[in-house]
Amino acid sequence: MNHTTWTSVDEYFSEHLLPPDAILDEVLHRSEAAGLPPYHVAPNQGKFLLLLAQMLGARNILEIGTLGGYSTIWLARALPQDGTLISLEANPTYADVAIANIARAGFATVVKVRVGNAGDILPILVHEEAGPFDLIFIDADKPRNPDYLAWSLKLSRPGTVILADNVVRNGAVSDSKSHDQNVVGIRRFVECITDDPRLSATTIQTVGSKGCDGFLLARVQTI
Ligand code: DHB
Ligand code: MG
Repeated sequence: MNHTTWTSVDEYFSEHLLPPDAILDEVLHRSEAAGLPPYHVAPNQGKFLLLLAQMLGARNILEIGTLGGYSTIWLARALPQDGTLISLEANPTYADVAIANIARAGFATVVKVRVGNAGDILPILVHEEAGPFDLIFIDADKPRNPDYLAWSLKLSRPGTVILADNVVRNGAVSDSKSHDQNVVGIRRFVECITDDPRLSATTIQTVGSKGCDGFLLARVQTI
């Protein structure tokens, strides 16, 4: 098995399980044209985010790391009309692209993109009592994941689901000697979860068009 096979399998399932989606195709096209890195989730992963949020009956979602708004739009589609989604983006150029993409997808009033370092905005959200969120998607700079987890817990209730993207990093996550700051960040994040009795967690390792990676899924059991 190799990347070509994984991509073919992703395409096979996406053709059968995901309807054609001109809006999301355009989001990817505009993001690429604006020079954003191709770090958005794959279409089948976006559908997973939608289904997860729907299964939770999510009304209030927090996303850490907007990029071009691709996963944001998948998540926003799960919300009821009076639902809210706050998405944090540190890069103002990415945020501009995302805000335009989100507006084109029809979610300008549902989604609030807040521009700045998540490390600065998360304490403000706690102060504003913006939580508790039903679902928190962590998909930003991996070295800061431990910090994002700590703030996410302050914005959670029992039953909140915290999902983190890119926890496998082509398998490097199991290398305890890695000096890659992304790997070190993910390993610290995992250790924080191990040590936190409030959380129950598992991972889903994925292969596909995005290579070998994975999600960490944690449920807040108690606060
Ligand atoms: C990277 C980050 C992501 O969120 C992603 O989906 C893929 C790659 C990265 O930092 O390399
Ligand atoms: Mg990601």
